Amino acid sequence: MTKMSYFPICLSFHVSILLMTIVTVSADIMTDINLSWGGDRAKMSGGLLQLSLDRASGSGFESNNMYLFGKIDMQIKVVPGNSAGTVTAYYLHSGGDQYHDEIDFEFLGNVSGEPYILHTNLYTQGKGNREQQFYLWFDPRNAFHTYSILWNPRQILFYVDGTPIRAFMNREGSGIPYPKNQPMRLYSSLWNADDWATRGGLVKTDWTQAPFVASYRGFNADACVWSAGKSSCSPTKGSWWDQGLDSNGAQKLAWVKKNYMIYDYCRDAKRFPQGFPPECSLSS
Ligand SMILES: *[C@@H]1O[C@H](CO)[C@@H](O)[C@H](O)[C@H]1NC(C)=O
Ligand SMILES: *[C@@H]1O[C@H](CO)[C@@H](O)[C@H](O)[C@H]1NC(C)=O
Repeated sequence: MTKMSYFPICLSFHVSILLMTIVTVSADIMTDINLSWGGDRAKMSGGLLQLSLDRASGSGFESNNMYLFGKIDMQIKVVPGNSAGTVTAYYLHSGGDQYHDEIDFEFLGNVSGEPYILHTNLYTQGKGNREQQFYLWFDPRNAFHTYSILWNPRQILFYVDGTPIRAFMNREGSGIPYPKNQPMRLYSSLWNADDWATRGGLVKTDWTQAPFVASYRGFNADACVWSAGKSSCSPTKGSWWDQGLDSNGAQKLAWVKKNYMIYDYCRDAKRFPQGFPPECSLSS
């Protein structure tokens, strides 16, 4: 099947959906997640999943399902204490490399008492280079916080505890590719990146603190699940399927951008001597 033929299936499904009764497709961390990397460094019990990193290896998990649109939530408590050099990645990825789609959260650790950086990126048909970075308005080491991706045909929104931090609108009308044909799987991994994640490798991982542990719970995927070449879901009117930024959400997003954004590719003129990518001049 070609990539282009995916979308009409989903669209026609959507049309039939509005006539149906409410069905929520949610998910369970114990049954819907596969501990896929790092051997017994990845563990799950009683609804709590933990990834760990030691000198020999990191670890990771992936969702058993692939999704084509959805609202995906996870509560994460990042590596506590001196976590400098560790990176906890949490992302959707379509697989395949050259034309892949990807929606990324990455938590860059830091020495005790210094702030984590929340790094985000977005690839459409293999093209990324859309980094935005943030400090958070809390210390993500101390407690679980909810990190969500809302992905529907109109936009992608990144949320932290329900506050939108980033929006990527569907601007196909302006020739900007939008992820809508390739289903994506959810992944997370914890690994060592002290060669770049600490301001270009300035600070090294303190291995005396190992193992480093990141914790996860409360996985929820209100999503269209991809199976046998088709996407099925039951989004209802007013659900994530139609959700966008209302004026309150837009205000919160502006608050985050003003107070917590520390890097925006759309303001990094040095990187784009030929001019900024087209989405940079379109309002979100
Ligand atoms: C879990 O992931 C591993 C590694 O990617 C894979 O070999 C295995 O088949 C997966 N298990 C399930 C149940 O999907
Ligand atoms: C770590 O803390 C330093 C000092 O506050 C800060 O400049 C940096 O952005 C923080 N994050 C990372 C990943 O280095």
